Amino acid sequence: MEMEQIKWVRNELPKSDDKWLDVMSLENVAKARAFHRSFPQYSITPLDNLKGMANYMGVAGVYVKNESYRFGLNAFKVLGGSFAMARYIAQKTGKDVSEMTYDYLTSQQLKDEFGQATFFTATDGNHGRGVAWAAKKLGQKAVVHMPKGSVKSRFDNIAKEGATVTIEEVNYDDCVRMAAAEADACENGVIVQDTAWEGYEDIPSWIMQGYGTMASEAAEQLRQIGVNRPTHIFVQAGVGSLAGAVQGYFANLFPNDPPKVVIMETAAADCLYKGAVAKDGDPRIVTGDLTTIMAGLACGEPNIIGWDILRNHSAAFTSCPDWVSAKGMRMLANPVHGDPVVISGESGAVGMGCLDAIMHDEQYKELRDYLGLDRFSQVLMISTEGDTDPEKYRRIVWDGEVCTDTTPMGHVESKS
Ligand SMILES: Cc1ncc(COP(=O)(O)O)c(C=O)c1O
Repeated sequence: MEMEQIKWVRNELPKSDDKWLDVMSLENVAKARAFHRSFPQYSITPLDNLKGMANYMGVAGVYVKNESYRFGLNAFKVLGGSFAMARYIAQKTGKDVSEMTYDYLTSQQLKDEFGQATFFTATDGNHGRGVAWAAKKLGQKAVVHMPKGSVKSRFDNIAKEGATVTIEEVNYDDCVRMAAAEADACENGVIVQDTAWEGYEDIPSWIMQGYGTMASEAAEQLRQIGVNRPTHIFVQAGVGSLAGAVQGYFANLFPNDPPKVVIMETAAADCLYKGAVAKDGDPRIVTGDLTTIMAGLACGEPNIIGWDILRNHSAAFTSCPDWVSAKGMRMLANPVHGDPVVISGESGAVGMGCLDAIMHDEQYKELRDYLGLDRFSQVLMISTEGDTDPEKYRRIVWDGEVCTDTTPMGHVESKS
């Protein structure tokens, strides 16, 4: 059987009026960063400089933002939910979010003014864990629904934060609808969902601003090592909130000379890619069970804000089979001598696998040339999670599950 290939398409979408770009203005992102900095648990996550890997790839630099260190939660997602809660509370109490420091949000004064809300959400794991963690830290309540097939370790991590959590018999997108309906029916209930749809735009745009903390840290860390601007950014997408946030921030930071951004989705839920292939500007939807190892990217319905930013600014959209991220996980776990190890999970490592294929496999030469990836390129990617499913991580990295050959290891057929 042939190995499934990475599919890609140039961004030739008609431009919109770009009304959402300002969500990720430098000012909005600075507010998010100030908010996160006020947490006692805050520290900047590493930007790993993989010099040996850059040499192997034939580029000037490969920099991996390592979100396995984020607030001890093993993924970047908490940045979004926590900032959205702060902005929601600010709105309800008629204040500016710059007043919503950790100390204030945990004070008696806030309790008297705001009381307690219940934050509902749907998640494949990371977002729900972030919402549950932030709710607990800020004295609020959380209810979290997970789609069919969610693993126990991810469920347990959410339950541990004191949230009410369930695994449902439906997919992620249906869990979102369920959480929204329950929030509607609950007094002081509010849905904190990491995706936007028509009429539900405030909270997701605040979530995206929260992700901006990570982008602004990375830009600053690059400057500190003498890289004024990444030339390329590889960013993965489920609904596209993260990608829209990263893309939007860098488009605002370098309005005249933005980095080229490559969007990567799992082939099982490549809704943004399909929208880009259709070329008419309308988002596309992928339905079904969305079976993939990249659980965090298994979302079939795009965030309309993210989609709008990406269609205006991204360079290319790709649809990546599971082996791409499995290869990326192994590469990051077994780096070139002298490079730091990055523990990167299934949804975190697709950037490394994708860059490797583009630089080393001649069938992607056209994409390499189109992107202008060469020895002058400074490539930023984001390892958005660590080993959030530790058993699966070991099966892939230690036991060789999901290899680039279509025959799974352990089931190798004799050639004789
Ligand atoms: C680890 C990880 N990476 C990337 C993503 C993708 O983010 P988005 O759904 O905003 O595109 C997710 C989403 O849950 C995730 O958990």
